[in-house]
Amino acid sequence: MPLHLDIADLKAMARRRVPKMFFDYADSGAWTEGTYRANEEDYQKIKLRQRVLVDMTNRSLASTMIGQPVSMPVALAPTGLTGMQHADGEMLAAQAAEEFGVPFTLSTMSICSIEDVASVTKKPFWFQLYVMRDRDFVRNLIERAKAANCSALVLTLDLQILGQRHKDLRNGLSAPPKFTPKHVWQMATRPLWCMQMLKTPRRTFGNIVGHAKNVADISSLSAWTAEQFDPRLSWENVEEIRKMWGGPLILKGILDVEDARMAANTGADAIIVSNHGGRQLDGAPSSISMLPRIVDAVGDKIEVHIDGGIRSGQDVMKAIALGAKGTYIGRPFLYGLGAGGKTGVKLALDIIRKELDITMALCGKRDIRDVNRDVLAD
Ligand code: FNR
Repeated sequence: MPLHLDIADLKAMARRRVPKMFFDYADSGAWTEGTYRANEEDYQKIKLRQRVLVDMTNRSLASTMIGQPVSMPVALAPTGLTGMQHADGEMLAAQAAEEFGVPFTLSTMSICSIEDVASVTKKPFWFQLYVMRDRDFVRNLIERAKAANCSALVLTLDLQILGQRHKDLRNGLSAPPKFTPKHVWQMATRPLWCMQMLKTPRRTFGNIVGHAKNVADISSLSAWTAEQFDPRLSWENVEEIRKMWGGPLILKGILDVEDARMAANTGADAIIVSNHGGRQLDGAPSSISMLPRIVDAVGDKIEVHIDGGIRSGQDVMKAIALGAKGTYIGRPFLYGLGAGGKTGVKLALDIIRKELDITMALCGKRDIRDVNRDVLAD
């Protein structure tokens, strides 16, 4: 692969390799995309303290997330349709994460199924659950995640109804999907992507087709997904899912102090401060701007994680400094995947690792577990 120095380089390469409708699907937020932009921009406002003449040898980025060892506190976030950024995308990303020693989270809305990912990995991965109206389907998904030895369930709370992304509608990525000459052209101009996609049988939602009642093909699938997200989801349902799963539980999509307090009382192991990467409520604050308040309110009761807008190891350092025990990247790994498959995901992780390591050293710290608000400039 050509020289890639940062995540922006991988994004530029992905733009050249992935058909527009799928690249845009990753690179988009709801409505004006204001929250999507704020997620990234607010990290730039946080400044670090430069320290000198501190012993910077023997540095360690190793930590834990919900008690599980990680080579650095950066997990891959659950993302739908990942197998459309690159053929077999979820399987490749899971392998990259496994080799790197960080958690991979498989989305309910993935292309590769739970069983596909389990068949190409040795270590347990995490599974993200959307609670669908069809509770038999949900129960069955949880059983499949248990059978695949998944070591955490990430329950997403901020998608009771779907936010609207203009790019997806303009590109015809709505349900049901449209196939016009424009789409054929978008794919034809990305021949490598097409060749790889033609070689794999995995081109639809692997966790759903053949598992949900009456979903056998793409048109019945579209109808099913459009009506399945549950707008009545409640805290009682969280308790119901917690019991059904019985293992480590992470609640994803908390952005409000009051909700964080409720989440801390559920018996879950962690919360993820998140606005779904700016894809749901446009106009909501950036996740990093809410982190300190949430940590102050519940940080002594429950592990606090964060995602949204992390584009560098510096951003990871800032989130950890503000009290996050773990972070997640969505688009950065998708850009790596689109740019170069498994190698690209490993490159994205490696870029972030190097940036985090150098930043930590220049802030005068040797162990990521010792990083706190001390490293931030006023
Ligand atoms: C997502 N996200 C998401 N979250 C989730 O719980 N289930 C899902 O299926 C998806 N799907 C999805 C697709 C795409 C293309 C993106 C970009 C995001 C949200 C995701 O887990 C995470 O919250 C954000 O991606 C974090 O923001 P960054 O790192 O992408 O800025």
